[in-house]
Amino acid sequence: MKRILIALALVSGLMSAKAQPQPINLIPVPAEYSVRSGPEGRCKSSICSKELACLKEKVRISEKALLRRLGGRNLSDWQLKSAYWIELGKKCVKIVAADEEGVFYARQTLKMMASLDSTPPCCTILDWPRFRYRGLMLDESRHFQGKDFVKKQLEMMALLKMNRFHFHLVDNPGWRVQIDAYPRLTKLTAWRPQAYFWDWEKNEIGGPFVEEGTPGAYGGYYTKQDVADILSFADERHIEVIPEIEMPGHNYETRAAYPELACQLPNGGKDPWELCPGKESTFEFLEKVLLEVFEMFPSQYIHIGGDEARKNNWKICPDCQARMQAEGLKSAEELQSYTIKRMERFAHEHGKRIIGWDEILQGGLAPDATVMSWHGTEAGLQAVREGHDVIFTPTHYYYLDYHQDPAQFRPVGRLVSLEKVYSFEPMAESIPEADAHHVLGVQGNLWTEHVQEAWHAEMMLYPRAFAIAETGWSQAERKNWPDFERRASVLSAVARKWGYTVYPPSPQQ
Ligand code: ACM
Ligand code: ZN
Repeated sequence: MKRILIALALVSGLMSAKAQPQPINLIPVPAEYSVRSGPEGRCKSSICSKELACLKEKVRISEKALLRRLGGRNLSDWQLKSAYWIELGKKCVKIVAADEEGVFYARQTLKMMASLDSTPPCCTILDWPRFRYRGLMLDESRHFQGKDFVKKQLEMMALLKMNRFHFHLVDNPGWRVQIDAYPRLTKLTAWRPQAYFWDWEKNEIGGPFVEEGTPGAYGGYYTKQDVADILSFADERHIEVIPEIEMPGHNYETRAAYPELACQLPNGGKDPWELCPGKESTFEFLEKVLLEVFEMFPSQYIHIGGDEARKNNWKICPDCQARMQAEGLKSAEELQSYTIKRMERFAHEHGKRIIGWDEILQGGLAPDATVMSWHGTEAGLQAVREGHDVIFTPTHYYYLDYHQDPAQFRPVGRLVSLEKVYSFEPMAESIPEADAHHVLGVQGNLWTEHVQEAWHAEMMLYPRAFAIAETGWSQAERKNWPDFERRASVLSAVARKWGYTVYPPSPQQ
């Protein structure tokens, strides 16, 4: 009986694959796609390579016209904004969308089609995103890649219809953004004698920094002009850039530049990561830094980090103890929660909302915080139950510093193969329909402890970012691993021609 059921499932799978053909190589796969049949079905003669530039384009921006093509499909407002309809014919391509954003995604689809297939079929596509947050994070602190690298990745993100770039700008081994009120952050702690992170950080204790201009110093940072340049590039591609300013942990570099921000310990002991939340001067520092960051980045979000604060110092620091007593805080976790909640109030006063790593649940979540669930998915599910927005970035699926093949260059962590990345489903069955809107989406994180070279960073990003993009954009029922693996190979070959370093999608073959 079981065999008959499996056979039936296979036959029905084949039939539905036929009803919804997948000959196109697009990533992410569109919601609906149909090919015009017959000998006239392919558009070779009228399509230029790359941009479809010689094809006449007719664009109509009209919500009503798009809704007509959507029929009874019920999209939310943010989905409608990104949705598009394309009719690709021999002589012209028609685009209908409710918003410029939809037109942009339609053009990305056409660009990818023309690049992947020299004879794209005459076809109709109706498409919209599944999740509103489709992100990548780049750690620029451990190793610094700079503006051109970032723009190159934004270009690929746009092609993949990814729309959030999480800029991890500051961390223990380097501060990477100009802050006028605190110049030593970039004059000193953006520079170190050793280029490779693991040569600098020994035994989890950070190494030295050197003054800007020191011969042979490794490092760099973004000036305000660089940030403006990146933002306008991202904006043209409908990508929101979300800066991260870590607090209260992961602040070795801040303390090296401004030692007075550390706890002053009676026993002279050292735990080099945290800021002292007992002191008012710490909050003055954080607020002044954030004011400049808010001025640079228009995103409604500020990522405040919140991860891996060790909190040991706080238990013996007189300032921290005094704060805990004054505020009625019973544990170091509550002192962390006090810090995050206070910074959330500050962010709100300036029209911003906070995102934090899932440790911000400890000691009580700030009322409006969005949680980035990284230890796994449980913290994210808890946050959803508590009525918070969540972005899923689970370590064992979406940590792109982990190796995709044991044989690859500098493998670390667990095996996170392309298939593993592709297999992640953000909408757990336990999430009630009424809470589904709290799942904002997904993000891949490229931490760079062992990733120094630009080619290595790209090799870690691609093709796995293709899989994250498809999970973020495509409808769940359209996902199909064997077909995705095939399409990832086609896109990888094209991306290599464009100058990207891409790891083989099927490394064992
Ligand atoms: C993290 O990996 N510490 C967010
Ligand atoms: Zn303290």
